[in-house]
Amino acid sequence: MKIVKLSEIDSVDIQSYFKSPVVIPTETVYGLSAKIDNEEALKSIFRIKGRPSDNPLIVHISDFEMLSNLIEGEVPKEYKVLMDLFWPGPLTLLFKCKDSISPIITGGENRKTVAIRMPKNENLRRMIKKLGVPLAAPSANTSGKPSPTTVEHVIEDFGEMVDLYIDDGQCEIGLESTVFGIINGQYTILRPGGVTMEEIKEALGCEIFVRNKTEKGQEAMCPGQKYTHYSPTHPVYLFKGADWQTNMIKVRNEVSELRIGLLKRQGLKYPDSFDEEYILGESLKECTGNIFSGLRDLDKKCDAIFVVGFELDEEGLAIMDRLEKAAKYVI
Ligand code: TXA
Ligand code: MG
Repeated sequence: MKIVKLSEIDSVDIQSYFKSPVVIPTETVYGLSAKIDNEEALKSIFRIKGRPSDNPLIVHISDFEMLSNLIEGEVPKEYKVLMDLFWPGPLTLLFKCKDSISPIITGGENRKTVAIRMPKNENLRRMIKKLGVPLAAPSANTSGKPSPTTVEHVIEDFGEMVDLYIDDGQCEIGLESTVFGIINGQYTILRPGGVTMEEIKEALGCEIFVRNKTEKGQEAMCPGQKYTHYSPTHPVYLFKGADWQTNMIKVRNEVSELRIGLLKRQGLKYPDSFDEEYILGESLKECTGNIFSGLRDLDKKCDAIFVVGFELDEEGLAIMDRLEKAAKYVI
């Protein structure tokens, strides 16, 4: 296993490492990547992560030239507006895909769309350009676990299963990209993330639907919605109600034998102190950046994790999406 800094990537023979999956840093979270034309490496991504094969992968491109080789038909005018504002950056767009795209990437022959994004980190885009082929990459965590925001997180999950880890320190945003598509004519966010709903709404000047949960009896629009997500080994208790302080004390007394860790948002008045505390920060941006590392950190030290719900605007929508999926109990 080799760890190389992204800024020193030119010192290794990347083409030969890319015969199998490589861990890459992005501005959102770390990814486990393979060249889109290397079917064996693409299959290995699913094996290493323990990912269900019908959950499609996001394709990462270095420039607009790469985009035209992947998609069928014209780029919708609304996408052009969004790409102008948010690419390179944490926005993934759903496009009609060319038949040449492997069904391993789209999660099966029947899905005719491909999710594409242009990551913000310039050195990463330069590396993709040098490889000459886009990279398909899901988040670099064991399926179901919190996403990784440092290379150390990824090594904890994959260890010797991966030959090359590219390190670029802590991810700037710390939470995945927003997945957006035009579905049955509706502007739809399938997964809230690094670009907020308010920013997309302002850019397009019209209503945006958020469909990040699958209703009972409905088919998942975004296959990732069907599966357990972001869950540490130990249970997460998410306190959402207005009387969260009272509930926190009540639950704490009920599980008094457990060592409890608190994901702490500064500025809130907590009813008590806890065995371990992980400071998320005060602003929504800071909390976004620390949510996954906080879950991972407390999971190592505690038997249960307590966290208070966030407001649903700006970055709060994406944080709550992750916490509701991570939580065993929502109170
Ligand atoms: O920030 C990110 O997006 C990170 C970094 C590595 O780029 N990637 C990431 O990938 O979060 P992943 O695989 O963990 O999540 C991708 C989500 C999944 O929920 C998947 O179901 C959905 O995007 N997705 C991918 N392709 C899709 C498609 N064609 N149609 C609908 N949903 C799709
Ligand atoms: Mg993921």
